[in-house]
Amino acid sequence: MGIEDRLTSFSERKQSVLRRAHDYLMPNRVETWLGVGVPLVIGRREGYRIWDVDGKELLDLHLNGGTYNLGHRHPDLVATLREALDELDVGNHHFPSEARADLGEQLAAHTPGGLHYSVFTPSGSEANDLAIKSARASTGKRRIVCLGSGFHGTSGLSGAAGNDESARFFLSDRPDEFVKVPFGDLDAIERAMAEGDVAAVLIEPIPATYGFPVPSGGYLSGIRALCDEHRALLIADEVQTGLGRTGHLWAVEAFDVQPDVLVTGKGLSGGLYPISAVVLTREVGAWLEEKGWGYVSTFGGSELGCRVALRALDLCAREESLENAVRISDYLGAGLADLQSRHAFLKGVRRKGLVIGLECDHEMGAIQLSAALYGRGVWAMFAGFDPSVLQFKPGLLVDEAYCDEVLERLDGALGDIETAR
Ligand SMILES: Cc1ncc(COP(=O)(O)O)c(C=O)c1O
Repeated sequence: MGIEDRLTSFSERKQSVLRRAHDYLMPNRVETWLGVGVPLVIGRREGYRIWDVDGKELLDLHLNGGTYNLGHRHPDLVATLREALDELDVGNHHFPSEARADLGEQLAAHTPGGLHYSVFTPSGSEANDLAIKSARASTGKRRIVCLGSGFHGTSGLSGAAGNDESARFFLSDRPDEFVKVPFGDLDAIERAMAEGDVAAVLIEPIPATYGFPVPSGGYLSGIRALCDEHRALLIADEVQTGLGRTGHLWAVEAFDVQPDVLVTGKGLSGGLYPISAVVLTREVGAWLEEKGWGYVSTFGGSELGCRVALRALDLCAREESLENAVRISDYLGAGLADLQSRHAFLKGVRRKGLVIGLECDHEMGAIQLSAALYGRGVWAMFAGFDPSVLQFKPGLLVDEAYCDEVLERLDGALGDIETAR
């Protein structure tokens, strides 16, 4: 079936968007979404709900990986951006600014241990690039150990640090410099370390694109110990797991592990103005003391973004936000256990705070569940590197009534799948 045949049931406006997106931007993506029955063009958005331009309401359990951790268009964040626009613009990145200094100070205050210096970037990919560069400059070593099933972005270094296949497509894989190990395998990290020249282990504390497998008690602390033994650094990519989502401000705190470098992004932007950050110990950030222009980015640390990020950080770090994450996690945990007892298709639940993965009873099951949920009015996405698992990401500030709606729609979607089988 051609794209035109698939568009006929939509409004003129939606047809036009899909047709032009197909023609000028992303032909394969548009065809794929139409093919799997998710013809979403987001229009209105508010709190933890989005509406397709043709009016369909969806509960947002995807949140763009935590970008909408505080909800879409949180009123305080919208007001903060509006106020900032009355006096600021992106600023001049060569000079210090009050907005940047405020955010740097607060990131140092809100990150664990000796994390101190911040560098702001427009994206999480670039923040990971800078984490890798800082580790190399600090240790004088080149190799980075990372997960074959990890995702750290799509820029040069961050892309090479993730799934090899994706990087290889653009001839950007660097297998000699980026050593890939399986999740949960400390021996593989030790073997890589033994070969020498390892600057850092780069890891998401709970790897998102692999379906949020929760690491066993000793895994992250074991990596920390190996790093110490081999004088390598630990880089925690908290782009998805940070900012309260585990019930702690940072996932490394939930696992009681101290990184040398912490990367944050997505939710830091409040979903309103792109900004990400890499936070370094004084030692790892020593290059900032000698090379003032070692990293320059016109839009990294835009003053507008800094103002929004400062407010977003404050909202996420509040005791009541973190307590809500824990309470809602337990509430959803009970509801999901009930659904699991009634639906064999829901094989298991991975959960650490609001970082949740739903295991399906089929290797591609989460693609099916994602489409069934779409039909029932929930947007949640399968894990790219393990499509048997659905990423299930409730917002930091949701309440029980919202969870009841989610659980009811999930119940319906699981029933739809089982009926169709
Ligand atoms: C864990 C993780 N790290 C880094 C990134 C890259 O962030 P960005 O898309 O802002 O470049 C992502 C994006 O999905 C991510 O999930």
